[in-house]
Amino acid sequence: MIRIAAVQMKPAFGEVPGNRDRTAALMRSQRANLYVLPELYNTGYLFADREEALSLAEPFPSGDTLKHLADLSAELKAVIVAGFAESTPEGKAYNSAAVFDRGAPLACYRKIHLFDLEFRWAEPGNRPPAVIQTSIGRIGPMICFDWIFPETTRCLALGGAQIIAHSANLVLPYCQDAMVTRCLENRVFAITANRTGTEARGDDELAFTGCSQITGHRGAKLARASAETEEVIVAEVDPALADDKQVTPGNHIVGDRRPGLYGQLCR
Ligand code: ACM
Repeated sequence: MIRIAAVQMKPAFGEVPGNRDRTAALMRSQRANLYVLPELYNTGYLFADREEALSLAEPFPSGDTLKHLADLSAELKAVIVAGFAESTPEGKAYNSAAVFDRGAPLACYRKIHLFDLEFRWAEPGNRPPAVIQTSIGRIGPMICFDWIFPETTRCLALGGAQIIAHSANLVLPYCQDAMVTRCLENRVFAITANRTGTEARGDDELAFTGCSQITGHRGAKLARASAETEEVIVAEVDPALADDKQVTPGNHIVGDRRPGLYGQLCR
């Protein structure tokens, strides 16, 4: 059994060192083997444009926040998945999630399905969803609005993911319930780490919904945070349970698919 955690917090826009320090203190208060942090946890969410995003974005894995997270994963002897704004040498910005395992930066996932105002600063992710082998199991990172496209979780499950690491800044009320179905239909665990609070910048204002959730491989809500507080929720799980895709003696959710009849999915 391992302890898996969602770290729910309220980033203050642009206050990167403060956001980092508060989050690290929360993590030190609840020991776990895997911590998932919200989307854009160190910077806040509502970038006006690409220039502003790039002023707070960092390259993977050499940026200050990413070095800090690598050190923290060594200190806590844990896997950490954290959302951040990524800059590239070509001057592009991505809405990304980095994976660290006991001091080592392992991977960087770039959000595939951008939400609404994100198109004004971020490029859509340009790499397929990828499963990351870690010391505590196979992790499938995805970011917030990726949840509404069942293909994202499905690709990660077919790639062998046992635990979906879902960094989020949710504003719509549907995701937590939808994750029950995502987990059931794929037989995977999921950690949805959401943020709380509101952000008002220029003419735009967003309220984030909190209620971070850990969902079991049979759809149970194993742990759930409040709507507003900064807190860490934890559940004990056996990731190997996600390897059994047999739903009844006669039904296997991978083997019983009928891809020959699903042509429209790839058009
Ligand atoms: C979202 O994708 N941040 C709603």
